[in-house]
Amino acid sequence: MTDKLWGGRFQEQTAAEVEEFTCSLPFDRRLYRQDIRGSQAHARMLAKQGILTEAEAEAIIRGLEEIRQEIEAGEFPVDPALEDIHMALETRLIQKIGETGRKLHTARSRNDQVALDVRLYLAEEVEGLIADLTELRRAGVRLARRHFGEILPGYTHLQRAQPVLLAHHLLAYDEMWRRDQARLKESLARIRVSPLGAAALAGTTFPIDPAYTAELVGFPQVFRNSMDAVSDRDFILEFLAHAAILMVHLSRLAEELILWSSAEFGFVEISDAYATGSSIMPQKKNPDVAELIRGKTGRVAGHLVGLLMTLKGLPLAYNRDLQEDKEPLFDTVDTVRASVRLMAGMLGSLTFKPERLRQALAGGYLSATDLADYLVTQGVPFRTAHEQVGRLVGYAAFQGKELWELSLEEIQRFASQAGPEVFDWLTVDKVVARRTSPGGTAPERVREALRRAEKELGL
Ligand code: ARG
Repeated sequence: MTDKLWGGRFQEQTAAEVEEFTCSLPFDRRLYRQDIRGSQAHARMLAKQGILTEAEAEAIIRGLEEIRQEIEAGEFPVDPALEDIHMALETRLIQKIGETGRKLHTARSRNDQVALDVRLYLAEEVEGLIADLTELRRAGVRLARRHFGEILPGYTHLQRAQPVLLAHHLLAYDEMWRRDQARLKESLARIRVSPLGAAALAGTTFPIDPAYTAELVGFPQVFRNSMDAVSDRDFILEFLAHAAILMVHLSRLAEELILWSSAEFGFVEISDAYATGSSIMPQKKNPDVAELIRGKTGRVAGHLVGLLMTLKGLPLAYNRDLQEDKEPLFDTVDTVRASVRLMAGMLGSLTFKPERLRQALAGGYLSATDLADYLVTQGVPFRTAHEQVGRLVGYAAFQGKELWELSLEEIQRFASQAGPEVFDWLTVDKVVARRTSPGGTAPERVREALRRAEKELGL
């Protein structure tokens, strides 16, 4: 027998290299609160069912409480030979309260224990992330409100396409973040399922009450199949997928901020607090925060793919491979929450440059579609109008003029149906104002969207 809690059938000590290789303590330490909470609930349930005495359960619960305080005071002796946080806490409990501590693991396995811990952890983090997203959305909506009147080119293929309100552009991200929040909220129902009581894989011979343990840890649901309960990591995969999608949204905005803050665009200035300098080029101010958000998106997407690969060939039920779920999960939580917070801070610090936005509206013939639409109102079939306007744009470009700088005669040379009211369709303001279709960029539509978002976000 060795000194391990599971050492009964072992004659030789574990090789040092194996201890190091299998040890998860350096990263699963962060589950200590959840592990203690789960163990306390388990002990209470054992007492209610008459499997432990009330006095035994009380001693365990109190012992665990003290250990929590030790950890929080930085006084917890960590021995890497203890394999993982579950073993470390149980060993410490036995040290502290003796024989009774050896009863805690009755009718439980580390397999259902660890599954519960991760679920408790993730439920909390997802709630935190949903709240972070509310702050991010608030920052975006405030920015949209502050710059409500500004117009900039909307792009397709990164070519100037049609003018849009800056607020409309920003509120597009609000839609993405709103969906991200909805996905996360909905996933909580599948995270908050207690696996405790599944034991190693097949259930237990003790008369346990898993519904009571679930209630004690605040989970509305209990597992239905013990083998699934200990081996299911769908809830982590789902979270990683939602996190990857959210990061992609952040990354797209980060990319726009990087482009927009370049001299070529010059639409926006990122505040000094969210930029960094170059160690060689004194003039530089780099959008590193935005770049890193974009860069970290690859890392989060990688964690999703990594865990999918870890799980794909696993036979039922628990396999030690599952220990590999934690680092990608923890890193994703840290990365996504930091990225959301930093993006919110950066949005709050942006300065838009209205004169550059206005300059960008010139020269792109952004009202060409509207001119064609106008000709349609005069009875010209759209395809014909499209062709006439195409030729007219070619002419205007050759003359170095905007469409609104042409004379009616010039316009009529290409589009004979055009009347003097055509000029009402050509300026950028008019182009924006006419897009009153649902979800369009007309100020009245965007005002509605802004109000809706403000209401949702309590602004
Ligand atoms: N550290 C392990 C993990 O994270 C805990 C469960 C270990 N179970 C076992 N039977 N070895 O998955």
